[in-house]
Amino acid sequence: MLLGPILITIVLEISLLAQSTAIPSQSVQKWDPNACAIVVCGPAQNGLPGRDGRDGKEGPKGEMGTQGIQGLKGSQGPPGKMGPAGPGGEKGSQGEKGLKGDIGSRGLQGVPGLKGDPGKVGLSGPKGDKGSPGEKGIKGERGLPGTTGLQGQPGNAGSPGPKGDKGSVGEKGGKGDKGDRGLQGSSGLQGPKGQIGSPGLKGDKGSIGEKGTKGDSGLTEVNLLKRQVSVLEGQLKALESSFSKYKKVIVFPNGRIVGEKIFMTSGYEGNFDALKQKCLQAGGQLASPRNAAENAAVQQIVTSYNKAVFLGINDIQTEGQFKYLNGQNIAYSNWQTGEPNNDNGVEDCVEVYSSGKWNDKACGERRLILCEF
Ligand code: GAL
Ligand code: CA
Repeated sequence: MLLGPILITIVLEISLLAQSTAIPSQSVQKWDPNACAIVVCGPAQNGLPGRDGRDGKEGPKGEMGTQGIQGLKGSQGPPGKMGPAGPGGEKGSQGEKGLKGDIGSRGLQGVPGLKGDPGKVGLSGPKGDKGSPGEKGIKGERGLPGTTGLQGQPGNAGSPGPKGDKGSVGEKGGKGDKGDRGLQGSSGLQGPKGQIGSPGLKGDKGSIGEKGTKGDSGLTEVNLLKRQVSVLEGQLKALESSFSKYKKVIVFPNGRIVGEKIFMTSGYEGNFDALKQKCLQAGGQLASPRNAAENAAVQQIVTSYNKAVFLGINDIQTEGQFKYLNGQNIAYSNWQTGEPNNDNGVEDCVEVYSSGKWNDKACGERRLILCEF
């Protein structure tokens, strides 16, 4: 930096100026406006030239002047740094609905439909005209020989002689020639009209149709789809409500619905293995309540039938470790006080009393079935 050398130069110049304008200290009294000035000068030969009396000490500071005219406005400073981004504005209101688009081009003509079924059998037609005469027939075969002709006339009277004996009958003559063929007969009556034949083969695909008029714009299509979606939503709601109603009908009075789970009994009674099997066959499993609400539903069935049920829970594998049928440890229980006690060392299954409380019981006992789906 050049600031050092510049400062040194300024200090030097100020000190030189002070020396050149200094007044000898012994010749200047402290300035007092009320006192007389006494000036004692040395020999004129070597002294510095005097100065006029105007070199008095600076007077007291005057009163503050009136405020000056306001200065001109400074030039605008450089722009500050950009502030942090503000929070996002609220979502604008929905714009106006756009104009309807142009109609699209007409689609291709469809393929021609299949030929229709054959019509019903028609009425029999009118009697046909008489046919034209047939061709002349071929010459017939020669006929059979004719019968023997009549006896001839008696001969002329001979010369008188003795009268002769009567002559014998002559031989049969040969068969005569076949006669000419007769004229063709007149044509018969026209027959009844036949049944309509079976349908013909499917026709060829038709030629592409004329270009159609321009279709509706996509916007209309979107609106159409929106309408269809809203119709479908309505139908779905109706279905849901109807489905919920039918579920209630189905579980009355032998079942209960808790959330997505349905508990249902058929009234069957058997030991644990038999009950487990029945529920599996039905596509469910033995009731396994996993919270108080589900246990309350089980309790309602037990109370309604006044029969305890077996749960899908046991400690068959490891004594004292009760598990669901899938092998997981139970996450909820509602044991009766003092239970499970594995009485006689044979109680590995779990029954539910009408109080909703659980007791471990021998799996061979018979209990009411209660499945969950
Ligand atoms: C038995 C039952 C046992 C135990 C006992 C309590 O009838 O089998 O599991 O609950 O009662 O007194
Ligand atoms: Ca017990």
